[in-house]
Amino acid sequence: MDSTAELDDIAVEGSARLLAAGSLPELRAAEAEATGKRSALAGLHAGLARLEPDARREAGRAINEVRQRLAAIATDRAAELTRIERDARMVADRLDLSEVLPGLRRGHLNLVTQTRQELEDVFMGMGFSVAEGPEVETDWHNFEALNMPKAHPARSGQDSLYLDWGGPESTLLRTQTSPVQIRVMESQPPPIYSIMPGRVYRKDTPDARHTPSFSQIEGLVVDRDITFGHLAGTINTFTQAYFGANINSRLRPAYFPFTEPSAEFEITCTICEGEGCRTCSGTGWIELGGCGLVHPNVLKSVRLDPEEWSGFAFGFGIDRCAQMRHGLADMRTLADNDIRLISQF
Ligand code: DAH
Repeated sequence: MDSTAELDDIAVEGSARLLAAGSLPELRAAEAEATGKRSALAGLHAGLARLEPDARREAGRAINEVRQRLAAIATDRAAELTRIERDARMVADRLDLSEVLPGLRRGHLNLVTQTRQELEDVFMGMGFSVAEGPEVETDWHNFEALNMPKAHPARSGQDSLYLDWGGPESTLLRTQTSPVQIRVMESQPPPIYSIMPGRVYRKDTPDARHTPSFSQIEGLVVDRDITFGHLAGTINTFTQAYFGANINSRLRPAYFPFTEPSAEFEITCTICEGEGCRTCSGTGWIELGGCGLVHPNVLKSVRLDPEEWSGFAFGFGIDRCAQMRHGLADMRTLADNDIRLISQF
């Protein structure tokens, strides 16, 4: 066989091998076989020495052309194999999160989250918007701006968890969602109709009615000529929409630094529907939260003129709502993750 025909054979066979390689290691082997030191191509190259200079130049160019063609084919095939292998790995690694195994329960939102969303729905239906604020709060937003200066006795009722950040006792985990009232008033002009749900933190020992972290929902209205009647009507409308038409609310005088006058709001005990039972200590009523007309000092702290603007505010526990709605004896069960409880909701 003359060397031109042999070179043609090498080119055809070599490219066929390279294209047939099914993996990168196979490609390496095919490449060594086609163009490596022991290849037929290398043999032809070694034979060049025996040729006359002109023929040698001619044959050398032909050999190099074949070598370059094979190298280009190998490069293309390597890129193709890399892509194929990556695609295969992606398919193999894919997790099917939609799969429901027989006997395995599908997860769902925690009861407190469900309750929070239902409360948001009720208030959104009444025209309120939903706002949020940070859980790490400044002393100014959490207390000072809410008419609770440093020495205020009401501060000790909310045992605070301070952070080692900034000046001493300047930063804390918020003890209430009320600071979000301040942030909402800072960020937009009245009229304001907002609710502000979120998590709060207190240095409390867990018991049947307390947990060191729980969720509250705050409400704030700032507009012209807002009265206590608007507040009472809003609370009662909410109570009946969320707990049902046979559950009512009532307001009893109370004290909060950020409202004047202030009230505690109670709802008909959902366990006995007002008959009187152990849960409500025989009164037929359960306390849900606090409320009142926004204190002029609070409006002044965000540079609103109390002569022009008035408002009402309220705040209550979301966990307590869930407890009342579903008749849970112990608040701690909400954080226990006991499947026997969770699977009921
Ligand atoms: N922030 C109060 C607390 O955590 C609850 C509260 C009372 C909120 C009265 C209010 C309010 O907005 O007007 O105990």
